[in-house]
Amino acid sequence: MAKVALVTGGSRGIGAAISKTLKAEGYEVAATYAGNDEKAAAFTEETGIKTYKWNVGSYEDSKAGLAQVEADLGPIDVVVANAGITRDAPFHKMSPEQWQEVIDTNLTGVFNTVHPLWPGMRERKYGRVIVISSINGQKGQFGQVNYAATKAGDLGIVKSLAQEGARFGITANAICPGYIGTEMVMAVPEKVREAIIGQIPAGRLGEPEEIARCVAFLADEKSEFINGSTISANGAQFFV
Ligand code: CAA
Repeated sequence: MAKVALVTGGSRGIGAAISKTLKAEGYEVAATYAGNDEKAAAFTEETGIKTYKWNVGSYEDSKAGLAQVEADLGPIDVVVANAGITRDAPFHKMSPEQWQEVIDTNLTGVFNTVHPLWPGMRERKYGRVIVISSINGQKGQFGQVNYAATKAGDLGIVKSLAQEGARFGITANAICPGYIGTEMVMAVPEKVREAIIGQIPAGRLGEPEEIARCVAFLADEKSEFINGSTISANGAQFFV
């Protein structure tokens, strides 16, 4: 039977490429989205991938949504915590709301997505947890105190989960994309974006598919010994 994969924020940007790649690899894929019904419907129409709407920032909504996916498709073997938002501002202008929204989605959202699935993965002695962090969780970024804090936190989550899950055949790994050509990056003011591209030795933005490739590698059954690691995919912009 095909393994089941869930991708949060899986109908747009990097998440859409991950959903499509996992489907092409033979997984039964479910993608979640937060708000854009039209885009999600178009994505399902185009790909045949089922989409589910819930707010990853809510534990109760996540738990109920995940239970629905498992009722429809079977136990989730691979979970990709990809949903993320930005609320960029220099620290002196950052509001408590901008801080909290990013924490709720990018950090608590990972807890809310993985925690309800963890007991089932332990019981079945199999699981692949893949968290999409960011280059900016590794190096920090002007204007992203909130976002960088969550993405660095994501690395702490996977390193700890890896130690707890290893005995149960569960791996937890992170991917740190650099600047990828998605709506999120295109929303950065053009002048700032051009300056950032100037700092990327590859001389270009990454493609969402280049991140999806890393996910497919980590999701594989044969990747069991790769646990607690961080894969950077950033065109040589930054090394840990
Ligand atoms: N380093 C040093 N100084 C910088 C700077 C930088 N990287 N960026 C801006 N500044 C300077 C500005 O030149 C300005 O200086 P002056 O006042 O002397 O002119 C000062 O900092 C602050 O400027 P503003 O008060 O006008 O700032 P703002 O309110 O317009 O906000 C910003 C600026 C929103 C933070 C903007 O710089 C920005 O969007 N930066 C990009 C942040 C970024 O990289 N986001 C990534 C989004 S994509 C993503 O997150 C995906 C991923 O994982 C990689």
